[in-house]
Amino acid sequence: MRNKITIAIDGPAGSGKSSVSKIVAKRLGLLYIDTGAMYRALTLKAMKKGINLEEETALVELANNTKIELIHQKEGTVVLLDGQDVTDGIRETNVTNNVFYLARTEEVRECMKKLQRKIAEKGDVVMEGRDITTVILPDADYKFYLDASFEERVKRRRKELEQNGKQVAGSGLSKDIKIRDEKDFTRKIAPLRKAKYAIVIDSTGMSLEEEAATVISYIK
Ligand code: CDP
Ligand code: CDP
Repeated sequence: MRNKITIAIDGPAGSGKSSVSKIVAKRLGLLYIDTGAMYRALTLKAMKKGINLEEETALVELANNTKIELIHQKEGTVVLLDGQDVTDGIRETNVTNNVFYLARTEEVRECMKKLQRKIAEKGDVVMEGRDITTVILPDADYKFYLDASFEERVKRRRKELEQNGKQVAGSGLSKDIKIRDEKDFTRKIAPLRKAKYAIVIDSTGMSLEEEAATVISYIK
């Protein structure tokens, strides 16, 4: 029997983390864990409850009293927030643009760390996010930092939104991604960084299939 493996993947928005992770998980028979979905789910709940997102204590209390589950089905991962399916709701632009409030709060991250490490404990996982290679699973068997030029990442996101029938206003998307990148790279707690010994893959000009094949080529 082969040993169980843990793969950690980080990178900025549109670098291909979730699509690549899904392919890697499927090909290698691993569990795919989208940690961004967890921060998104908390944000959706905070917004629905009308919580002041500037108020850290309220955010921490919310995180400590929320159940987030990722249910794996044939068609993909279903995200349950306190038992409710929020798979689509967490992708709305107003959620995306407000995730930074939860993501910058230290105790919220501690709470997510416990949940994520517990899931990864059993092994045979591909976990992706912003701090997986640096904070959550620094001893993962394989660590990848996926990247692509800013222009390419915006182009990918635009195409994705259009394919999903969503309206994409002129320069709004590019501005939103720039702001989110900046917040993810510069926050005090667990900023996005290239981890020591992480394999860096610049996928600019690569198709999704090529990017996934590059990642898989490193995994023995
Ligand atoms: O899919 P996309 O790259 O646009 O974003 P995501 O992975 O769903 O993550 C949404 C936001 O959650 C990020 O911009 C981060 O601010 C935050 N996040 C985080 O702080 N730490 C993680 N491990 C994952 C996401
Ligand atoms: O998770 P992350 O934000 O890093 O990126 P993603 O959601 O996996 O990818 C964003 C979009 O870019 C998706 O529609 C992917 O299919 C597409 N993509 C691509 O066209 N070429 C790649 N090499 C990687 C992703």
